Amino acid sequence: MIYLDSAATSFQKPSSVIRAFENTLKTAASPGRGAYRAALRAAEAMLDMREDAAALFHFPDPERIVMTMNATHALNLAIRSLVSAGNRVVISGFEHNAVLRPLYALGAEVRVAGRTLFNSEEMLEEFRRELPGAKAAVCTHVSNVFGYVLPIKEIGKLCKKNGVALILDASQSAGVLDIDCRELGADFIAMPGHKSLLGVPGSGLLLCGAEASPLFFGGSGGDSMDPEMPTYLPDRLEAGTQNAPAAAALSAGIGYIRKAGRSRIEAHEKELMRHMSALLGKHEEIEQFVSNEDEMSGVLSFRVKGRDCEMIAQSLGEQGICVRSGLHCAPLAHESAGTLESGTVRMSFSPFNTHAEIETAAAKLIKII
Ligand code: ALA
Repeated sequence: MIYLDSAATSFQKPSSVIRAFENTLKTAASPGRGAYRAALRAAEAMLDMREDAAALFHFPDPERIVMTMNATHALNLAIRSLVSAGNRVVISGFEHNAVLRPLYALGAEVRVAGRTLFNSEEMLEEFRRELPGAKAAVCTHVSNVFGYVLPIKEIGKLCKKNGVALILDASQSAGVLDIDCRELGADFIAMPGHKSLLGVPGSGLLLCGAEASPLFFGGSGGDSMDPEMPTYLPDRLEAGTQNAPAAAALSAGIGYIRKAGRSRIEAHEKELMRHMSALLGKHEEIEQFVSNEDEMSGVLSFRVKGRDCEMIAQSLGEQGICVRSGLHCAPLAHESAGTLESGTVRMSFSPFNTHAEIETAAAKLIKII
């Protein structure tokens, strides 16, 4: 099997991640719920994970790093903390349904800035125009469909200038691109644990730079006589028993990234993407959505003239090549790029993919076509 669907979830996990998950499952109980060894071990796993994530993202306060079920959960928390019905919210033209649907459910007034693929100047111009008077901006760091790296630092500066809160969706960048919270100054940063941070499904993080409101209400391990959720983080947002094995896996994933070197992982994934793109570029019938090095991460979307994207993905799947086709839960991004009717086939790369795999996958694709 050749796995080229890391934008959906990382599949190959470092052995340290699997070991950490298994050991914690065997030795840890409920975090913050007891003074005995197994409960303390679980609490330690949660604390270590917050400290490891704080170090990776240069986030000043580990206690303000909240564990979530996934990036969608983290985005819902952030959006619900800042936005009420009727508030104006500016989003990029490349947002995922994890942003669109919560805003729609809230009845926010959504303004879209930047509808042209790989045109960051136009995007900044439109953010500049739409931000005055807005309550918040929600922006992805990288398009999950096209690997387009958005000009997030500049968008952050524009938000600051206009006094508008910023929620960053780091679903496709956390663990690969440089995220330095000291520079970004985002109010919230949401991310999955199971993608490039190499943790397990069912884990995510919300880095809280602003006041946050709970989505779930329940036990927090302390202040039990208070009918309200605690006012302090992370307890305010972490109702119910937390996933200590997933936290330990996330710590191990972050440890792997720091040891391997985040920037080396970024360079490797981009190089594989370029390699694949060069191989596919020899075939006129393949239309690729690519730009220059700085504007792209390790994700490649394409379609083939006269061919159905789903059929291509299915044929590849039958031959052991794992890719994702269709709309990738991001109809807005496809609409912006003009691919809403056809969708695309997406290949996304990981630290574990090799050049030999890229060549095999490209050859099989060409044969299918
Ligand atoms: N949002 C994930 C993807 O792009 C699941 O495939």
